[in-house]
Amino acid sequence: MLRRAALSVLGVEPVGPYTLLRLRRGAIRPGVPGQLFMLEAPGRLLPRPMSLCLAPPGELGFLIDPIGPGTRALACLEPGDELGVLGPLGHGFRLDVERPLLVGGGIGIAPLPYLSERLGHPPALVGFRSEWHAEAAALVPRAEVVVEPTLVTERLPEEPWDVLACGPEPMLRALRRLAPSAQLAWEAPMACGYGACYSCAVELDGEWQRLCVEGPVLSGGLR
Ligand SMILES: Cc1cc2nc3c(=O)[nH]c(=O)nc-3n(C[C@H](O)[C@H](O)[C@H](O)COP(=O)(O)OP(=O)(O)OC[C@H]3O[C@@H](n4cnc5c(N)ncnc54)[C@H](O)[C@@H]3O)c2cc1C
Ligand code: FES
Repeated sequence: MLRRAALSVLGVEPVGPYTLLRLRRGAIRPGVPGQLFMLEAPGRLLPRPMSLCLAPPGELGFLIDPIGPGTRALACLEPGDELGVLGPLGHGFRLDVERPLLVGGGIGIAPLPYLSERLGHPPALVGFRSEWHAEAAALVPRAEVVVEPTLVTERLPEEPWDVLACGPEPMLRALRRLAPSAQLAWEAPMACGYGACYSCAVELDGEWQRLCVEGPVLSGGLR
C-alpha cells in the first residue's frame, strides 16, 4: 500500500564510501524488494529515488551513495531528524524464481540485502570499483565479491540461474545479453516517482517506459 509519511532518523552509519540511513518505519511498509521510495531531505526542493536495503522490525534502511546535493543532504542527516518518505512505488522483483542468483554492481547492491532476506539467502555475486567500496558487500549474505578490473559478468556461472540484478547500465545491458530472462532494476532521474512527470521515461527495445511505473525492475528489459 502506498503511503507518504514523515519518518525519524534512527541512525546514520558509514559503510565504506556509502551511508546507511536507518529510519523508524512508522506508517511506511517495506513493500517488495526493488520497489522505490522517494526520500525528501528537509529543505530540499525535490525528493530522491532510493531502493530499500534493509527491513529489520520497525526500521527501514537505505544505503546511499552521496554523489550530489540530494544524496549528500540525506547522508548528512542526524539521529532525531525527520524526512518525508513516499512509497513503496513501482514494480519490484518477482520472487517466484527457482534458482535465484543475485547480481549487483556498486551502489546497485542497495536492494540486494532485503531481496536476499525475502528469498532465503540465495548466492550472490557483487562487484565494486575498489576494496573500499567493496566493504558494502558485508551487507549481502553469501556474496562472492569481485573488484575491478574483474567484472561480475566475467564470473557469471554457466548453469541456468534466475538472475536478479541491479547496477550500472553497462552491467545491466551486458547481463541482458548473457541472461536474457534476467530481472533487471534500471535507473533514471526521477522527479515525482508515480507517473506524473515523465522525467524517468527511457527507451528500451524501441518502447518508451516510465521506469517509476513500469519498473524499476523489468524482466529481460521489458515487462
Ligand atoms: C529506482 C531507483 C533507485 C535508486 N536507489 C538508490 C539507492 O538505493 N541508493 C543510492 O545511493 N542511489 C539510488 N538511486 C540513485 C539516486 O536516486 C541518485 O543518485 C540521486 O537521485 C542523485 O541525486 P543528487 O541530488 O545527489 O545528485 P544529482 O546532482 O541529481 O546527480 C549527480 C549526477 O548523477 C546523475 N544522476 C542522478 N540521478 C541519476 C539516476 N537515477 N540515474 C543515472 N544518473 C543519475 C546526474 O545526471 C548527475 O550527473 C536510485 C535511483 C533510482 C531511479
Ligand atoms: S518520475 Fe515522474 S513519471 Fe516517473
